[in-house]
Amino acid sequence: MGKEGGGDEDAAPLFETKEGRFRGAYKVFASTVFVAGRYWAWIGMFMAELCFGLYWIVTQSVRLNPVSHHPFKQRLSYRYEDKLPGVDIFVCTADPKIEPPTLVISTVLSAMAYNYPPEKLSIYLSDDGGSQLTFYALLEAASFSKHWIPFCKKFMLEPRSPAAYFARHSTVTHDIAYSQEWLAIKKLYEEMKNRIDSVVEIGKIPKEVRDHHKGFLEWNSKVTKQDHQSIVQIIIDGRDKAVVDIDGGRLPTLVYMAREKRPQWPHHFKAGAENALIRVSSEISNAPLILNLDCDMYANDSDTVREAVCFFMDERKGHEIGFLSFPQNFDNITKNDIYGCSCSVVNKFELAGVGGYGAALYCGTACFHRRESLCGKVYSKDYRAEWETEATKNTDKTSNELEEASKVLANCSYEKDTQWGKKMGLIYGCSVEDIVTGLAIQCRGWKSLYYNPDRKAFLGIAPTTLDVVLVQFKRWSEGMFQTFVTKYCPFIYGHGKIKLGAQMGYCVYLLWAPVSLPTLYYVIVPPLCLLHGISLFPEVTSLWFLPFAYVFLARNACSIAEALSCGDTLEAWWNSQRIWLIRRTTSYFFALIDTISRQLGLSETTFVITAKVVTEDVSRRYEQEDIEFGSSSIMSTIVATLAMLNLFTLLGGITMIAMAIDRLKALEQLILQLILALLLVMVNIPVYQALFIRHDKGRIPSSVMFKSIVLASLACLMPFIFTHGCIF
Ligand SMILES: *[C@@H]1O[C@H](CO)[C@@H](O)[C@H](O)[C@H]1NC(C)=O
Ligand SMILES: *[C@@H]1O[C@H](CO)[C@@H](O)[C@H](O)[C@H]1NC(C)=O
Repeated sequence: MGKEGGGDEDAAPLFETKEGRFRGAYKVFASTVFVAGRYWAWIGMFMAELCFGLYWIVTQSVRLNPVSHHPFKQRLSYRYEDKLPGVDIFVCTADPKIEPPTLVISTVLSAMAYNYPPEKLSIYLSDDGGSQLTFYALLEAASFSKHWIPFCKKFMLEPRSPAAYFARHSTVTHDIAYSQEWLAIKKLYEEMKNRIDSVVEIGKIPKEVRDHHKGFLEWNSKVTKQDHQSIVQIIIDGRDKAVVDIDGGRLPTLVYMAREKRPQWPHHFKAGAENALIRVSSEISNAPLILNLDCDMYANDSDTVREAVCFFMDERKGHEIGFLSFPQNFDNITKNDIYGCSCSVVNKFELAGVGGYGAALYCGTACFHRRESLCGKVYSKDYRAEWETEATKNTDKTSNELEEASKVLANCSYEKDTQWGKKMGLIYGCSVEDIVTGLAIQCRGWKSLYYNPDRKAFLGIAPTTLDVVLVQFKRWSEGMFQTFVTKYCPFIYGHGKIKLGAQMGYCVYLLWAPVSLPTLYYVIVPPLCLLHGISLFPEVTSLWFLPFAYVFLARNACSIAEALSCGDTLEAWWNSQRIWLIRRTTSYFFALIDTISRQLGLSETTFVITAKVVTEDVSRRYEQEDIEFGSSSIMSTIVATLAMLNLFTLLGGITMIAMAIDRLKALEQLILQLILALLLVMVNIPVYQALFIRHDKGRIPSSVMFKSIVLASLACLMPFIFTHGCIF
């Protein structure tokens, strides 16, 4: 020791540094994680692209095959005016608080005033609320119709929903004779509306009104929404030639029905109501054609029934048609359609495309059915409809006898051990019973057509807040995806029965929910990779850049062209991109999660929408096209978080490129991600406004704002730990 220690002793360091034992190994590990981070991002990207690609192929089936139909109603009246078939019109309502009776009767009146022989029309109102308020409103409507229908017919008024008509024409501009009558009718209408509104407000019927009609006796026993006997009241018996309007014209039959409800019996929601209506109407008028309408969906064209009959009576192809569906259009769409409710591209191209395969979708409303096909008949080549014999079935029974006989048909126990809900009528047990029922009819061999007239046939009311839109879409997309994973999957159930194009057409909608995943990936991962300088797309100088740029430009150009050709504004197209993004990242995503949880038997998320009265405030913002967030639901949190994430990544990405040593190179590598992030930020501008600028009640609440900032910042840091976590 002595020697060694000798002269060097002074120079020896006072401490030494040793390399960590596994430093080399760790470097290898770190770089694999780094590469793997990239690698997984790439794999994910590849999968997302693959999903989009597959979904895109599915959607192409409908794009390739749109057809449009044009009925000739003059030829119909020329050939068949006195042989026109009867038509039963079903209007369904569920709750007088959510669906105000004045709205419901406007729909009923618009249907009663169709330009069609009144003795061949019957209107049935199904009231699942079992409410005497609705019944009362219908009585009022019946007496008002005696003025309204002849007035409409005399002056050829359109539309024939009094609410819509007077909203659109608030003053008269015609000659004196007409204007006097006009003012008188308007006054009658307003008085009726006030009477109904005040009865609804106090919530009970005044005694003198109750004594006026025997129908109110039904409410003498205890009637609640969930628990009551069947109620069927024929308010106008159209067979009776003595019942006439003020000009002596015949009136259509008008029936009120509240099917029996008992807590111990499942009621199957709207499908149950419609099946009861099918049976009750078969007892009373038994028309061979049935039109379904939602209670807020008034008839905007008084010739629609005639046009529909053209299809069914056509000598060459009419006998094949099981149903004829119309698009759902809305009255209350603002110019640039902030919630994308008008769906004009879907209506004009997609649904028409599925219809082109003879398999138009039944969407639960605005649809004419052939009674036989709806009730389970299987199509055969020799089938020919007999239009005339049917309507005369029950001429010998009195109104009272018909009512008593129909009540039995609306009883809970009636369907026990029958095919109702299985092979007959609307199918039970799925939340999109309408889609499934339509598919089942097509699989029984019937064709269905889609008819989208230029002048819209039916107009409903569009939702005016984001929450309502999103929850609606969540419900639909969930029901659709559930259908996809059951035996009703069109590829299985429809195999060999409907065309492949039609099967794919159905899947455009049934696969809404799973498309949320690649979309979420696209709005989260590429921007985050941008933030961390990880390039996912080809560089500008690479040849692979071209197909990317081409696909991007071509798809958007095509989408813009489609929207403009439907009469949308450019801004409406831009808005539709936003709402499309929001829907996919929230509604569809939760629908997917809930479908999976249900399959696994776990509990589901619930979104309860408090039936918000649309206040004047909300209406005003809707008219100004400000998106109504206004609640701190998880949906708005997601929307805000994604928007913040995109903002952070864009700013971070720009900073990073600006500080890079070789700026040009960095830009070349990241340009596509930069553009993507920029577009996402631009499309989200209204979200930032709702977060930081707006002060009205429709803005995003500050609790959501804080949450979204925290969540977005965490997300920005997370992959940093993952991929760069090893840079010590
Ligand atoms: C529909 O919109 C019109 C104006 O665009 C408005 O006057 C009306 O109150 C709205 N109706 C409903 C039910 O929101
Ligand atoms: C509804 O009908 C009226 C005619 O009464 C027509 O002017 C209007 O364009 C129709 N609405 C739609 C959306 O087609």
